Amino acid sequence: MTASRPSSPAEAAPVLVAGGAGYIGSQAVRALRAVDIDVVVLDDLSTGHRQAVPADVPFVEGSVGDVDLVRRTLKEHNVQAVMHFCAFAYVGESVADPQKYYRNNLIEGLGLLEAMLAEDVKRIVFSSSCTVYGVPDHVPIDETQPTTPISPYGRTKRDFEEILADYEQAYGLRYVALRYFNAAGAAADCTLGEDHDPETHLIPLVLRQALAQKYPGRFPDLPPLKIFGNDYPTPDGTCIRDYIHVEDLADAHVKAVQRLASGGASLTANLGTGQGTSVLEVIAQAREITACDIPYEVAPRRPGDPAELVAAADLAAQELGWQPLRSDIGNIIATAWRWHEGAASRPADQ
Ligand code: UFG
Repeated sequence: MTASRPSSPAEAAPVLVAGGAGYIGSQAVRALRAVDIDVVVLDDLSTGHRQAVPADVPFVEGSVGDVDLVRRTLKEHNVQAVMHFCAFAYVGESVADPQKYYRNNLIEGLGLLEAMLAEDVKRIVFSSSCTVYGVPDHVPIDETQPTTPISPYGRTKRDFEEILADYEQAYGLRYVALRYFNAAGAAADCTLGEDHDPETHLIPLVLRQALAQKYPGRFPDLPPLKIFGNDYPTPDGTCIRDYIHVEDLADAHVKAVQRLASGGASLTANLGTGQGTSVLEVIAQAREITACDIPYEVAPRRPGDPAELVAAADLAAQELGWQPLRSDIGNIIATAWRWHEGAASRPADQ
């Protein structure tokens, strides 16, 4: 189910998309506009891309931690709800440099909440993550499993969720925290896709191998993909993840903001498909879709990788009326491939 047009003035009220120049935030901007909800984007462009925000969307360059700037932005655009996508999201980096993560993901985020309360904006949709579960007791993972993250990144997400619950009790802030599983894929029209630097995610790295073959010179001397461990207790020995299409994630955000606008209760819900795909299965699909070989070698396990992360996705279906419609792994890889291929075949300066 894609989101529907607002049925009340409250549902049509302008939304601040903090982090709206990023991979998932930019898709949410598009999904909001598709149902006629006005948007203003705030982004410090530390990882986002200015060109991912349409020229006719008001854009403010700055940090969510800049309370005065956020207050001015909320007031000027008559914002009634916020989507908060701003976070650093490299698990390994968060272990090496936790200060960077606690400062950005928690302290700066508190600035956003302070500005919201000061301007009486009391609805927020928060990007959380399945990392809050750490190593799950069992799969599929439902929302009642304990939140015992095993990295500073995961702890920032878990802590922010708990802060939101405290703020609800104390200040009446209502929230929807969405725990994404593995965000992947690109817009069906190829205009928005995943562009991280450095890139650490499996699907873009798999497709880079195909690009290197098809466009020699783009990635000179690219080493083979590394599979991080093939001795996990899974059917083929490689890790299993629940890949969820970024446009499905964007739809869930629109439904979440509409739920809050129509007076719905706070909610914490997984966003996944309930289907797991192993690293080797991703490679096999990518070979088929790209018609390229994907050279790989087996490397040691990456610290902090659980064997299997698959969502129980019933709660989001029940509470938001949300279903992942585009998250078949073949469609995820095909849309990502079209986007990466389009980017690779354009001149480098565009
Ligand atoms: N993998 C490889 N080789 C690579 C990259 C990844 O084998 O070069 C494997 C990983 O070990 C893992 C799977 O592919 O088993 C997926 O890895 P990603 O890095 O693509 O994704 P993660 O599961 O590590 O991370 C994702 C999100 C994070 C989030 C995390 C929660 O991208 O933001 O899920 O587990 F925190």
